[in-house]
Amino acid sequence: MYQPARRAAPLLSFALLMAACAADSGDVSSERADTIPAPAPTPASTLPAEPEASVDEPVPSATETATTVPATTTDLPAEPVEFSQGLDDRLFPELGAPGVDVLSYDVVLDVDVAAETFDAMIDITTAVAPNLSQLSLDAIGFDVDTVLVDGAAAVFEQSFEELLIDLPANRDDVVVATVNYSASPDGGTSAVGLPVGWFPTEGGAYVLNEPDGARTWLPSNDHPSDKALWRFEVTAPEADVVSANGTLIQRGGATEAWIWESEDPMSTYLVHLVIGDYELIEDASIALESGTDLPITHLVPSGTADVHRVFFEQTAPQMAFFEERFGPYPLSEYGLAFIDSPPGLAMETQGRSLFAAADFRRGELGFIQHLLLAHELAHQWFGNTVSPATWSDLWLNESFATYAQWLWLDEVDQAVLESQAEVALQARQNGRQSTGEPSVSNLFGFETYDGGAVIVHALRLELGDEAFFALLQGWLTENAGSSQTTAAFIERAEQEAGRDLTGFFDAWLYAVDPPDEFPS
Ligand code: TRP
Ligand code: ZN
Repeated sequence: MYQPARRAAPLLSFALLMAACAADSGDVSSERADTIPAPAPTPASTLPAEPEASVDEPVPSATETATTVPATTTDLPAEPVEFSQGLDDRLFPELGAPGVDVLSYDVVLDVDVAAETFDAMIDITTAVAPNLSQLSLDAIGFDVDTVLVDGAAAVFEQSFEELLIDLPANRDDVVVATVNYSASPDGGTSAVGLPVGWFPTEGGAYVLNEPDGARTWLPSNDHPSDKALWRFEVTAPEADVVSANGTLIQRGGATEAWIWESEDPMSTYLVHLVIGDYELIEDASIALESGTDLPITHLVPSGTADVHRVFFEQTAPQMAFFEERFGPYPLSEYGLAFIDSPPGLAMETQGRSLFAAADFRRGELGFIQHLLLAHELAHQWFGNTVSPATWSDLWLNESFATYAQWLWLDEVDQAVLESQAEVALQARQNGRQSTGEPSVSNLFGFETYDGGAVIVHALRLELGDEAFFALLQGWLTENAGSSQTTAAFIERAEQEAGRDLTGFFDAWLYAVDPPDEFPS
């Protein structure tokens, strides 16, 4: 998304539950452990495999042997191909492209559910740097048929993980690239060990894009630093419903497309697209603190609205709880999507979070359901509104969403905040990797989730409640709609504290072994 120069410069989530289980099955002393309820009422065998642990020392996890991750057919390269043009992200150097700032994506899909294929026409309106002769998009796993630039046929080439499009010499600094292609994608596994891509289901499909999956079904500037506006126009005659980010503009049918449009800038990894035998439920809007009524649209497998009611009912109290602590809800809508996927999945897709219906059976609202619903809602503030500038900044999403989840679990008497923090602090004494400099294979590991929430709790104790919550609210409102670095967060924290915090962040965020006691 274009940001004017005057502006200075968020499995059971597989990862999420893995982190919860790691703390539980780790070397936590029993007198600590029994102060919080058993975190995993869901049988371990229903959980998907955890992401590959770092080579030196595997994360202890109850989920290690389970294998319910969607079938892998197109594993993404662990190492970037040498010639790929990218933004030199420390973890994913090939993603994104210098000199490119996408303003909007207009995604038109014609989906043949039975054949598990689609035809696509994507209009990408993008600012391009004056000296740029080629537009480099991330695109992998499908063949492009034709490309237009500003309506005229353009020369293009698919090279390794990129779609390279020649730009005419006499062009504006904003161009519209139209990419036509067909695809029969079948998901895969990211180098981080999580399922990413387009997953066909019985009667439909869904997508998972974090961190590098969007490019496997959608040519895009697939890096969290580039937010854009989005419009989806999807025809899927065989499916009851198509759900995408934003507001429903047109309800589809046998020949009509489903049209969704979003007015909040969004990174590619947050795209929500679910197709199949579902029902959309326009629930009562929620009165926000600001006085605005927030539209709420949930998605459930057809005929299951009643079982899911108890989960819908968590949204309003959670919303009020988080608004009080993090400030105004930052988006134009919200909802919960319970989908036909293997259990152990949760993802903060923007404005409508994704959950596996299998984890919310029989309407039982327990520890795990509270944890997941709170975690993904909190991401709408941490990650979706203020997104990470690079993948190394992921703790700004996951550590804060995990801390928010701890706060909610405490609020509903599922677990005491201080006990959760203490258990995670002890589990963090493992000397594996720092939270601030994660590795690809352990990007979604314990140090990013509960291990990082330990840092957030320590920061709260270091600053005091008043400065801590003022910092969070200032950070979120001042940076809404942008992508930010950890350095910017530290600077903002120092501004709030009125003192240098280098020592604090060196010890807690960047050290492999953080302190073993919280600040008092
Ligand atoms: N961001 C998710 C969470 O809330 C975790 C996640 C990352 C994920 N990539 C994913 C979940 C891919 C499912 C598939 O913690
Ligand atoms: Zn998360």
